[in-house]
Amino acid sequence: MKIRASSPGKAILFGEHAVVYGEPAIVTAIDRRTYVEVEDSKNIEIISEDLEVKGIRIRPGKRFETNEDVSFRRASYIFTAIKVLEDEIGKINGARVEIKSDIPIASGLGSSAALVVPLIASLAFHSGHELSKDEIRKLGWRVEEEVQGASSGVDTTIATFGGTILYRRGSYKEIRCKVPLVIGFSGKGSSTKRALEEVRRRMRKNPEIIRGIMRGIGQITRKAVIAIRQNNLEDLGELMNLNQGLLYSLGVSSRELDSMIRCSLEAGAMGAKITGAGMGGCVIAIPNRNEVRVGIRLGGGIPIPVRTGERGLEIESVEDRGKRNNKEEGGERRNKRRSG
Ligand code: PMV
Repeated sequence: MKIRASSPGKAILFGEHAVVYGEPAIVTAIDRRTYVEVEDSKNIEIISEDLEVKGIRIRPGKRFETNEDVSFRRASYIFTAIKVLEDEIGKINGARVEIKSDIPIASGLGSSAALVVPLIASLAFHSGHELSKDEIRKLGWRVEEEVQGASSGVDTTIATFGGTILYRRGSYKEIRCKVPLVIGFSGKGSSTKRALEEVRRRMRKNPEIIRGIMRGIGQITRKAVIAIRQNNLEDLGELMNLNQGLLYSLGVSSRELDSMIRCSLEAGAMGAKITGAGMGGCVIAIPNRNEVRVGIRLGGGIPIPVRTGERGLEIESVEDRGKRNNKEEGGERRNKRRSG
């Protein structure tokens, strides 16, 4: 049996970090994806060039082996996903897992959730368990909590359901969003775990002040929902800049991110801010003209134009015992899952 599944990366428009403390966030799925292909094999083998995981082999019941230098941070999401899945459904079948991704890793674009969600879906399916989307999302959330020490669940929700959503504490509502977006990648990775720890440290030191900042971000996010509904880019830009000021005071900006934000605003962006955990990674800007991309370059970053509101988790194809279920049949299966 051969299964191919994929999930999108994401951009948080408003509310990162505050969402971990119970405030709402607005997040959209982007047109960059991670693809996971699972095939029959004796052991569990993971192969990926894009994710810096060169070759991992897990023999049933034994310690895992690596045959080359492995990016352990990345690999920990994979091992934890396998562990969490086995806790849920019991021992999984041996599988050769190939991972391909066009999402820059550790960059605030949700690359870990976009990996964990299709990985869980395809490994479960390969072992004869067709989990519901909500079950997959929750298992993925558990993986993120375990690896990062905390997670709001926003990343695995968008990686599973796609679209643009208003998310708060495990529940979400789809919103229509036609806001144009440019992402600026600093070229430097960021650690979600480290950024979360820094915010937690500040919270412990000055709880009243930091709680006030989180509430402020929550208010900005609620106002942004109205601006998105009205497609009012001017208000939205202003709210984005306010959100950025508060993210800065949480200590999750960096010289590279500040520079891209400043230069894109000087080039005429309506608003710009960090997206994701920060301390590296990416910024987003609302462009009103092409010069914004030039601004991001001048600020030292790489502009990535993206489409937003993209599709969530999909089982792209299933091949079974020589009989090929092509995209059309896969589509039927997907629809069944959606309605279920
Ligand atoms: O940088 P990313 O893609 O891991 O996004 C993290 C978003 C946070 O709000 C900082 C954490 C979370 O779980 O919501």
